Amino acid sequence: MQTKYDTILVLDFGGQYCHLIGRRIREHGVYSEIVPPDITPDKIRSMSREFNIKGIILSGGPSSVYEPNAPRIDAGILELNLPVLGLCYGHQLIAQMCKGKVEPAACREYGVSYVEIDKPVGVLAGLSSREKVWMSHGDTVFSLPPEFEVLAHTESCPVAAFRHKTKPIYGLQWHPEVVHTENGTLMLRNFIFEVCGCTANWQMEDLITKMINELRTEVGNAKAIIGLSGGIDSSVATALAAQALNDRLTAVFVDHGFMREGEPEAIREAFKKFKINFVVANAQQRFLEKLKGVVDPEAKRKIIGEEFIRVFEEIAEKVGAEYLIQGTIYPDRIESGFRKHSDKIKTHHNVAGLPAKIKFKKILEPLRDLYKDEVRRVAKMLGLPREIVSRQPFPGPGLAVRIIGELTEEKVRIAKKADTIVREEIERGGLEDNLWQYFAVLTDTKATGVKGDARAYGYVVAVRAAESREAMTASFAKIPYPILERISTRITNEIPEVTRVVYDITHKPPATIEWE
Ligand code: XMP
Repeated sequence: MQTKYDTILVLDFGGQYCHLIGRRIREHGVYSEIVPPDITPDKIRSMSREFNIKGIILSGGPSSVYEPNAPRIDAGILELNLPVLGLCYGHQLIAQMCKGKVEPAACREYGVSYVEIDKPVGVLAGLSSREKVWMSHGDTVFSLPPEFEVLAHTESCPVAAFRHKTKPIYGLQWHPEVVHTENGTLMLRNFIFEVCGCTANWQMEDLITKMINELRTEVGNAKAIIGLSGGIDSSVATALAAQALNDRLTAVFVDHGFMREGEPEAIREAFKKFKINFVVANAQQRFLEKLKGVVDPEAKRKIIGEEFIRVFEEIAEKVGAEYLIQGTIYPDRIESGFRKHSDKIKTHHNVAGLPAKIKFKKILEPLRDLYKDEVRRVAKMLGLPREIVSRQPFPGPGLAVRIIGELTEEKVRIAKKADTIVREEIERGGLEDNLWQYFAVLTDTKATGVKGDARAYGYVVAVRAAESREAMTASFAKIPYPILERISTRITNEIPEVTRVVYDITHKPPATIEWE
């Protein structure tokens, strides 16, 4: 019989970090389910047949609690006698529902902030009097009724954390799930184990078995193809699908021409050892033609998403495959804005970039709920080779989203060269293991320079290197100047069309990692 896991429900108000809460809980060996915010108390009671529900977290979200259509919860949820923790929007919502005062903040706080902990109890047990936290809010809780007590404040936020005096109800204005909250792990651990009394009885292996079984059940005796870009996600999805389907699986590598230098060869080499049908689709010309004259980044992503599917459909017809498997992971979906209350950040090629009509019976996405570092853990458990496990992520649309403006053969050539130089110098400096991604962006700005005593007017290349754990947030990397200097010198010397190199010093948020 399957174990009834101790479970925390996360009510999803559309916050960018909502799913991150789920995975942070999983990291502690406790299962979590993300559910819509309009879930009823009865539904929660009925879920108890399958899960041992021990607590509820209300996520953050882009709305304001006082907007007419702001998402809310059934008041009965606060009466279920289950511990509740509200984060950001969730914190404001509990305050408002309990007759507290929530208003626009005099001073909005985005990014790192410091809170004064007034009472280190409950969720805040073990914290010091001043804590570094990650805030991202435009509204603030200004006061609460007497049955609540304030646990923390900042200069501009008088109720940064609270708890109910007699019930296990807590609110935090900040995001403990984001790594930039220094003691976020401790805060969540306090909630999961001390406040909710969970036992850690869930593990990653359970998920691998679940994913393989799901693929087997869905595909039955039919055939499937999988888009294999050589990145970690599609490689892991391929390894899982290979276990589920064996030779009923065909892996397709689409060479759309926006790959890094040497990439198609590297993929062929890495997957030589796998016992799968492997097809390379040479589609450079058709992608470039479709993208001629297209400048808008979202239009580019949509065209690429559609063309990928058309190539897959053609190959599926040849091999008789009815299903398409993709290595889509959670952040791809969240940024594509697939949830009811979340904002669209960008159209990931394999999610919202998909055309409305497709010839497949179904698209299967076994990794849809995982983050990149969880995928890496699964890769290790599946015994995938190091060159795949440790590859830096590469977006499906490739250099097309790193070349701003219209794509031309000249720009693709320049971007490839610049990218190779960045990769070589970062790796020569031994920095790659600590970086999430490092690459070059060919901007559509031109700048004046002087080369060999003559005026030059050429492209501006931006270098981007980011540190991150799961791509939901990222910090620009503090690359040593000598390495940046080598990169800049080599790019301007080896690529005559480039006159200037700049370094991108923006975190995510507010920027995204890719430029488009
Ligand atoms: P952003 O730019 O949104 O990127 O901060 C987050 C992570 O996702 C990768 N990325 C993509 N991956 N298809 C993909 O397979 C896409 O369309 C796509 N867009 C961005 C990006 O490289 C980063 O690791």
